[in-house]
Amino acid sequence: MKIAILGSGGREHAIAESISKSKNLKKLYCIPGNAGTNLIAENIDIDLNDFSKIGKFAKDKNINIIIVGPEKPLVDGIADFLEKKKIKVFGPNKFCAQLEGSKTFTKLICKKYNIPTANFNIFKKKEDTINFLKNSKFPIVIKADGLAAGKGVYICENFEESSNAVMEIFNGKFGRAKQILIEEFLRGDEMSYFVISDGKHFKNFNTAQDHKRVGEGDTGKNTGGMGAYSPSGLINRELEKKIIEKIIKPTFKALNESGNNYKGFLYAGLMIKNNEPYLIEYNVRMGDPECQTILPLLKNDLLEIINFCVEQKLDKNYFIKWIDKKSLCIVLCSKGYPENYIKQSEIQNLNILKKEKDTHIYHAGTINKNNTIVSIGGRVLNIISITDKYKTSREKAISVIKKLNWKDGFFRKDIGFKIIK
Ligand code: AMP
Ligand code: GLY
Repeated sequence: MKIAILGSGGREHAIAESISKSKNLKKLYCIPGNAGTNLIAENIDIDLNDFSKIGKFAKDKNINIIIVGPEKPLVDGIADFLEKKKIKVFGPNKFCAQLEGSKTFTKLICKKYNIPTANFNIFKKKEDTINFLKNSKFPIVIKADGLAAGKGVYICENFEESSNAVMEIFNGKFGRAKQILIEEFLRGDEMSYFVISDGKHFKNFNTAQDHKRVGEGDTGKNTGGMGAYSPSGLINRELEKKIIEKIIKPTFKALNESGNNYKGFLYAGLMIKNNEPYLIEYNVRMGDPECQTILPLLKNDLLEIINFCVEQKLDKNYFIKWIDKKSLCIVLCSKGYPENYIKQSEIQNLNILKKEKDTHIYHAGTINKNNTIVSIGGRVLNIISITDKYKTSREKAISVIKKLNWKDGFFRKDIGFKIIK
């Protein structure tokens, strides 16, 4: 098969590596890819907003499936656009992608289908929002409605913080704000739960825990993700049953009842309290860096699974199997991230690192420049190690970063601190 993956992050490098191992693969493209995907696929420089050019490329090259990595093209309707041109896509249509693109869309589904989630109110006017906050208990959570690259969420400790957040959102910090969401603050432990769906059937696609804050002990600014581990320490049979029955199935039912079916990865961000799951958010893709920890544990052929999804053949006689080990990823970032960070810095020692068993290096913000590898993004490399214990996985990942000795990089040394005693 001929496959094209859209995206340029660590998630897409991990997907590319898994796909590249498939016996059914004939040719792999990454659009636009990074310096890492370039080693196992052909990078094609097309802007992900340019759907026509992507469609033309897929037709010209007879691509069998386009796998969409990030959320933005999905929320903008790339699956609908390509399917109209008879190009097969792995990723949900525009209607279903509202699960990530519009927090109010998801909340209204939760309300109608009784899905456990934080209590909430939706406001359209600044004045009504502020009046509501005057009589609210704190902490409280305030969210911009649309896509905000993980930044449109404020956890507010008092009235002043919350009214500032409301002003920022209504003044257009995250684009034109037609409405705002105010939520009860949930206490508990977070877990990322993944499923893969063909529109008729779905399967669990493992669990993970990420670390979004830049600083050790989960402090400081939010980032795209500084590290993750899989599986989550919270998952158990009883909890999984509740997640499927109370959250995943009713969500797919809601989409089906509106004449749509969900094809692709679905990522449920959950809060777990007393072994009960509450939905915080949905993402319509794999997590990054969760994906980089999960895929190396997969025993099946990823291309086979994705092809079954596209063909709606992911039925109950097909089993997804996982290596029973502890996978941990540390993200190596460019100094300054998530604010202004150093760019165009050469990473010198990558080629001296030998490929060690059960260690993976996935690129994110890297490019090739005159035969050297240069950083261009905030999150630059993902180092994954898989052993029998989270602690040894972390030690191994850190030892790889030390060998790399990239002077303009930094990383969190405490990834997995809640599970590593
Ligand atoms: P979201 O973009 O909705 O995932 O929110 C980002 C982060 O904010 C989540 O990963 C949680 O850590 C936190 N968060 C969001 N909503 C709530 C809530 N209702 N209660 C507590 N924490 C929340
Ligand atoms: N790691 C968080 C995300 O992918 O949204």
